[in-house]
Order: sequence, then structure tokens, then C-alpha cells
Amino acid sequence: MTHTVSDVDVAPSPPTFEHHRDAFGIGDVRPRLSWQVPPAGIAWRQAGYEIEISDPDTATVSRHVRDSEASVLVPWPGPDLLSGQRLTVRVRVRGTSGECSRWSRPSSVEAGLLEPGDWSADLIRPGGVHPSPVLFRREFTARHPIVAARLYITAQGVYSVRLNGTRVGEDTLAPGWTSYGSRLRYQTYDVTDALRTGDNAIGVTVADGWWRGRLGWTGLRNVFGDRLGLLAQLVITHDDGSKTTLVSNSAWHWSTGPVQTADLYDGETHDARLARPGWAEPGYDETGWKPVEATAAPTELLCAPDGPPVRRTEEIPARQVITTPSGATVLDFGQNLVGRLRIRVTGPAGTEITLRHAEVLENGELGVRPLRSAKATDTYVLRGDVEGEVWEPEFTYHGFRYAEVTGWPTALNPADVVAVVLHTDLRRTGWFECSDERVNQLHDNVVWSMRGNFVDLPTDCPQRDERLGWTGDIQVFAPTASYLYDCAGFLISWLKDLAADQRADGDVPVFIPFVPIPGQTAGALAGQAGWGDAAVIVPWVLYQRFGDLEVLRTHYGSMCAWVDRFHTGDPSGHGGDNQFQLGDWLDPNAPPDDPAHAETDPILVATAYRVHVARLLARIAGLLDQEADSGKYDDLADCLCARFNDEYVTPNGRLVSDSQTAYALALSFGLLSADRTPHAAERLVELVRAKGHRISTGFLGTPLICDALTQAGALDDAYRMLLQTECPSWLYPVSMGATTIWERWDSMLPDGRINPGEMTSFNHYALGAVADWLHRVVGGLRSTAPGFRTFDVTPQPGGGLNWARTAHETPYGLAEVSWRRADGRWEVDVTVPFGSQATIHLPVPEWTPVVVGAGRHRFTHPDTPGPLGDATPPAQR
Ligand code: BGC
Repeated sequence: MTHTVSDVDVAPSPPTFEHHRDAFGIGDVRPRLSWQVPPAGIAWRQAGYEIEISDPDTATVSRHVRDSEASVLVPWPGPDLLSGQRLTVRVRVRGTSGECSRWSRPSSVEAGLLEPGDWSADLIRPGGVHPSPVLFRREFTARHPIVAARLYITAQGVYSVRLNGTRVGEDTLAPGWTSYGSRLRYQTYDVTDALRTGDNAIGVTVADGWWRGRLGWTGLRNVFGDRLGLLAQLVITHDDGSKTTLVSNSAWHWSTGPVQTADLYDGETHDARLARPGWAEPGYDETGWKPVEATAAPTELLCAPDGPPVRRTEEIPARQVITTPSGATVLDFGQNLVGRLRIRVTGPAGTEITLRHAEVLENGELGVRPLRSAKATDTYVLRGDVEGEVWEPEFTYHGFRYAEVTGWPTALNPADVVAVVLHTDLRRTGWFECSDERVNQLHDNVVWSMRGNFVDLPTDCPQRDERLGWTGDIQVFAPTASYLYDCAGFLISWLKDLAADQRADGDVPVFIPFVPIPGQTAGALAGQAGWGDAAVIVPWVLYQRFGDLEVLRTHYGSMCAWVDRFHTGDPSGHGGDNQFQLGDWLDPNAPPDDPAHAETDPILVATAYRVHVARLLARIAGLLDQEADSGKYDDLADCLCARFNDEYVTPNGRLVSDSQTAYALALSFGLLSADRTPHAAERLVELVRAKGHRISTGFLGTPLICDALTQAGALDDAYRMLLQTECPSWLYPVSMGATTIWERWDSMLPDGRINPGEMTSFNHYALGAVADWLHRVVGGLRSTAPGFRTFDVTPQPGGGLNWARTAHETPYGLAEVSWRRADGRWEVDVTVPFGSQATIHLPVPEWTPVVVGAGRHRFTHPDTPGPLGDATPPAQR
């Protein structure tokens, strides 16, 4: 790069690799790079960039200059990464008139083991029928000083690993849950500092987890295998350049330890009297330990993570101690959360403490019925240390706000019990707040439900005997999720499982990873519109939010297979009118024990979704230059749309299912001709008003209803619905003290009883999909090109709100809208990241849209200076 003008005093952010938060042990051989340029004072556009790649091992440096405006996911310019290779990369950018930025700070990337042949470890198992969890151990000697050491490790089960007695890494429930038959993740840890010259020991505990523990509501176990396994490879680099590799093999031994049982649903039992002090340190007496069985490792299934691991992210103290009517001691943490408890206790050996978890109280006692058969109970038996003992279960998690404590040896001090929150450690990227505290609580509840259900994969719920990767739930929630957190890598990983578990006929199971739950086996819930459609919609959302076209390319085959399935044979798109469809699942009008019995004809819902998804696929095909496919899927969408109209719409535009969901689908998916649309829009508004602005939609209608009303010109009705507190409504749970989004509008009935239905979780994100409308319409930040390369600032106030603010960390940097109004006066502050452009629309007459580039901008209308008093958001006061 030549400098024609003096350098600009600005540097891009250190580059990131693919969607990794930490590019360590990655599996991408050509990781795409992204960076951001701080907008301050930059009036120019990027015209080119230069990437410098340094290899410290070979002391080589290569520089790659490109003419391009791109700064998000740009192609890797160097040769393919090699297994274990570590490089540093920095970037600088050039403006249109040739001026050059400073270099960014470097970032480093390190590849994991990329080829099956890189693994020399065996898969080791305890012999025969064995208990769980099990401990594996091995001692080894490092003969020369160590300069670097990497541990590559995974398990059939969930593991935690110790080197010389110290826990390695912060991952929890590793290796996480993938479609184990097709993909098994391994983790890479830098363990240089955990080893020493001389004698060392490695100890690994492996518990059932998803591999062998309970899954689903029928008591199923051993879904992926009936024996636990471990695969570990430790590569040590010495100061003389030589390497020592220690692998799991027949020289290892196994035994059991203090953890007696550990199950994700049922909880963990730990008898501290059975602890094996020093078992993960050298010099331990292995008497009684048994040799392992070693078999060939499933190396072809091994893959590096695409997103961050599950970690313990926050600690929450107990808010109060409650003595229940039956005399039980219950702690209230004030927040429905997902994680587990850490206790600190002193008492005699053998004292047994039991912790039972629940999301709600009913009649003043723990309300455990919604957990169905999940026991959610942890037990700790004290070893009797006089200085006290600290314990937290390792291989389970619970969804809870309350915990009942029994067996505590002394008066319970609530400070001795702490709730530890855990979930995939995603980077927060989205915020919203406004002048109505109830709406802020609703938004907080959405965030908490996302945290609680993004536990390695997107689950329906975190507490009962289910916790599966239900496709429909993430399909509706993906737009919200990908605004609130950078979940690209997380969802890309899940989509790989979706493609892996997709059936030969293109069908997408209703939960991914697929679990053959009796009664739900292949075909039982085949072709579920709104659920299987995740195969098309989730990649589309990732493309929109993160600007990642590659996701569409990678999953194109999977999308086509899904859509072709309802194309071939049956143009109606639903495999015959008698086929069961989940439809507008959990419509509040459905009886509690029959959640699929919605007001809206499920086949109408399915057909509407078929049109929408075929249309989307036509667009995707176009983006991928698959012109013939694009035409084919457009034709399919036309044909299905005609069928929808013939079958379900009167010539005037009334729908046969005269329901909020039916109109919301028809209007949002653009299924009606111009002459039918106005009447349908009017009818939707009538129906919403007839219900007194209480909601009447389930899983599939809810994400669309506010947009449909906005589009119908009935913004005021959308706000009245948003702000309704009578059940069913979004704010009803808030008025009942909810701190997460409930599965049902009335998971708790107004009289405080728990809904009698089987499906009664208090932590399900699906109905929280409305947050996307809060961000786009109330906050007014709406992307108009992939990755927010361009966006609209279109606040649409209502509901008596006098200010709102929303911000999103886009791939280009922070975009923010903060608006306030008082007495007909408007003030809007906008932040546009470098590389992006915003069009400002203020909802005032005679406003001409203004296009602005990077920087901070203020718009006022009428154009008079001065503060807006009460209408000013707290942080700006
Ligand atoms: C799950 C859902 C899911 C639904 C569909 C429920 O048991 O919790 O969220 O989408 O089943 O049948």
C-alpha cells in the first residue's frame, strides 16, 4: 500500500476470525477476517485494505493488499492454516483518496487439529457396564523444559479436566451437545502454565450429559451410547524444539469418585467423603483403579467449535429466605435463571444437604409440577472439614428462581448459597430501553430467557424433562437473538447439526439434535411448517444480521431439500389436508391440554409458511446466482399462494380462519392481492379491538402481529396490544412479577395457580420474539442491507412513550438510535458506524428523509435547540 497522503490518526480494531470470540483451536482453514474502523472524524470511505500475516515460528511475514470496501468477513488472503499453526494478523485500511490508517493491533489465530490423521489418541472407556461419572487418570514425565503445551480433548459424555490438580479452562458441560452421530466437538486448551518439567498428571471426570443421560419426556437414556468415553491428546513443545505427545490409550486407568450420580434433568449427588485427594496430581496411589479399554477414536467426526463454550457468567445472591407454610426453607434469588447453586457449609461428616429447584412458588411451596419428571435435585454429603467446604455441582443445570434447602447443619445464612448463572458465553450486542418500565422489564425478560436457553444449542426450555433444540422456537426467535447477542457461530454450529440430522427425503426433524423419542420417531412429526422452516429462515436471519453470505451457500442444499419435499408430489405443500401440523402452537384460545388445537386452521398456517419460505428460497437462490432455481421457487411460491387464496380467502379479503394469526400471516408474508389487502387489514384491526387488545396468537402468530398491525396502519393498536396487562398479553406476566418469558401467556393464572397444562414452562423465549419489533419499530433501528451496511432510523412512537433508545453492535460497529419527544418537539441522536449509512425518517409531517454516514448525528424538529426535560433518557440526563 502506498501512502499518498499522511497517515490518518486512526486504526482499525484488531481483526476477528470467522465468528469466533476467541480464535483459538479453530477448525477453519481459511478464516474470513473482519474489523471495524472507529467513526470519529472519518469523512472518507474505505477503498482498500492491507492484511499482514506473521508466522512467529518461521519468522515470515506476508502482506496482502486489496482494493475493496469490504471489512466484514473478507476472504483469508494467505495459504491454508495448518493443524496447530499459530499466526498473528493485523490490518490497515486506505481511504478513497489514498490516505492510510495506522495498523491495527495484531490478533492471533491458532488452528486446532484439522485432519483426522492428526489424532493419535484412542477413545478410552471403562470396561463393561459401569457407573457414572467416572474418573480417568494418567501420569507422565516431561523430560525437558516446556515452552508450549496444548490439550485437545473431548468426551462421549460431558467432561472436566485437571492438570496437576488444577482445573483446565472455564468451559462447562464441554464438549457440549452436537448431533453426536455426525459431529463431536473437541476443545483446545493452552496448558503451558499448568505443566512443569518432571512429573505431571492429568485427571478427567466424564459424566453422562447428553450422551448417556436422560433426554426427553419419556425417560429415554443412552441415546447416543451406553458407555462413557474420553479422547485426549496433549502436545508439549520443549525448549529445544522437540515435542512430546501424551494421548489417551490403554495405559490410562479409571475409577469412580465423589460424584455418585449426575444428570442434566435430575441433578447431581456428591458424597464428599468419597473424594480422592490428589487423584489428578502425580504420585497418587492408584491402587484399586482399573485399566481402561482403548478403541479407535471416531476421528472423522471430530470438529472444532464454531462458537464460544458454555461458561459460568454471573453470580446472584439470594434475595430472601422464606419459610413456607409446610415449614420448608426456600431461598428466593429474585430472578428466574439457569445454572446451579454454590454452597459454603460447615458441619459434621455425613450430613446430607438437599437442594430442590423450581421456577415458581404455588400456595407458598416450590412449584415443581412444571418440571414434569425432571427431579432438579442436588445432594451434597459433607466430609466434615472443620474449616468448611464449598461445593457446586459440575455436570447438571437447572432452571430456577427458588431453591428449597434441607439438611443444613446450622441456621442457614443466605450468603452461603449463591446462584451461578451459566449459558453459552456469547458477546452481548443489543440493547433497548424506553420510558415505560414495564416494557423494559419485558425486554429484560427476553434477554434472560435467551441466556437461559442458549446453553450450547437453542433449547425450548431449561428446566423440565425436555430442553431440546426445537426448531420452531429458534425459527421465530432468531431475529431477536441475533440482535441481542452475537450468536452467529453458535447458530452456525446448530445448523450443521440440522443438516446432519436432516432425513434423506429432506424432512427436518422438529428438534435438532434429533432424539428418537418414542412416539416422535422419524415421520411422526414430519413436514412441520414453522418448525422445519428453520432450515431456511435461520440461515437467512444470519445472513441479514451478520452479512454472512457463506451461511446461505453452505446450507443451500439443506434448504432446497426441505422445500423440495413439500414441492414434489403435493403442490398444496402440506402432504394432504389430514396431516397433523403444530400450527399456531399454544394459541391462548386452545385448551390447556391440547396446545395444537388453535383458533387458526393449522393447514392455513402451514400453507402461509410454505409460500413465505419458497419465496425466501427464491431470493436466496438469486443471491447465490442460481437463476433457474430462483425461478423455480418463485413459481412454487406463486402456486402455493394461489392455493392459499383459493382455499382460505374470500374475494373480499376475509380469511376462513377469522383470527389474529391468520391475518398476521397473510399480511406479513404478503399473501394477498392489493384489492384484498385493505379489507384483511381492517378485519385484523377489528379482531384485535374486539379482544380488547388482548393477544390471541400462539408461537407462529405472535412474532408477526405487531408488524402486521403496523403495516396495516394501526400502530396505535399495536401499542395498545403491547401495553395491555390483562391476560393474555405480553405485560400480563410482567404484572405477575415474571422475570423471564413464559411458554404460555398464562403459565401462571391470575389467581396464582400454575396452569394445569403439561406445557407450562416459565422460561421459553418464543413469545419474546416481539423484542425484534421493539428494536425496529419502537427503537427505530432497522437494517436495510445485510450486516446493517445500511439501515433506517424510523422511530414510530406511540403508547405514550416519550423516549426510547436502542443500540446494536453491528459487524461495522455500534449503531444507536435514541429519541425523545415532548410537546410536539423531537430530538433524535443517531450513531452510524464507519462503513455503514443510515437514512433518517422522523415521524413528523414534511420530513424529508436524510442520508448520513459514519458519526454521531442529532436531528431536532422543529429545529430549535434546548433540552427536552422529562423526555430525556436517564443516561443522557
Ligand atoms: C416445546 C416447544 C415446541 C413444541 C412443539 C413443546 O414441548 O417445549 O417449545 O416447539 O413442543 O410441539
